[in-house]
Amino acid sequence: MTDPNIPSGVAPGPIGVFDSGLGGLSVLRAFEARLPDQAFVYLGDHANAPYGDRPAEEIRRLTMAGVERLFDEGCDLVILACNTASAVALRWMQEKWLPFAGPEQRVLGVFVPVIEALTGRNWGYLGPPTPARVKRVALFATEATVASGAFTRELRLRATGVEVLETSCPGLVDALEGGQRGLAEEIAELAVQHALKTMPFPDAAVLGCTHYPLVEDAFRDVLPDETEILSQPEIAAESLADYLVRHPRFAGAKGEDLRLTTGDPGRVTAQARALLGAHRPFQSA
Ligand code: DGL
Repeated sequence: MTDPNIPSGVAPGPIGVFDSGLGGLSVLRAFEARLPDQAFVYLGDHANAPYGDRPAEEIRRLTMAGVERLFDEGCDLVILACNTASAVALRWMQEKWLPFAGPEQRVLGVFVPVIEALTGRNWGYLGPPTPARVKRVALFATEATVASGAFTRELRLRATGVEVLETSCPGLVDALEGGQRGLAEEIAELAVQHALKTMPFPDAAVLGCTHYPLVEDAFRDVLPDETEILSQPEIAAESLADYLVRHPRFAGAKGEDLRLTTGDPGRVTAQARALLGAHRPFQSA
């Protein structure tokens, strides 16, 4: 697509996808399926994962460093495929940091698209909150995301009459990053059992950490059959596709896809393959 605002000869770069570790790959997989002609550069900050039990200040600093690294790769649009960073750092970055650090660049999160999907209130909706299509929502997320209160706050801006229960799953990300899938599944099951004591029949469950879809079956096994699990990766991919239609200057042609990590590339590649099957090798960031 051609954008009259871009001088001819300047090709849009790849889209950057950032997460603390492997979780964002669940989102990247959905992006690649939805936008097969688009190049992506993925950065996992494995050296500092997990983010979920860190103070907000540190999450902001690490997220900024990751986004800057992706800007250096020519990514003018970066998606925080990390709910923790989206909930804790994104609004602050957009308002206080980006106008100076990258006035031409954009950083978006994966958090609000899910809330839009739950409430039917899309980007740009400025009207008052209206009754939600679901009445009881169980959010599973990291401690930092739960502590930020961002999910309930953003939901209440758009919807009325919805009860929200936020449950953190301490140790789940660590277990997945450490290759302990069985332990991760156990933590997911315990978290759901705990949540169901307070909210026995949620209409919808949101796996509000991009690592959690990697063990979605464990959540599904314990949740009541009638509870809908919202698939954040697919929702985020749809939202990105829509954003690119509205902002075609960020839609790049297929180029070289890169997978970068601040951790050990060999170990991270093996982990990605164990969790997601065949996967291109990671390089040092
Ligand atoms: N996968 C990330 C999220 O969506 C971060 C998890 C973590 O680093 O604790 O929240």
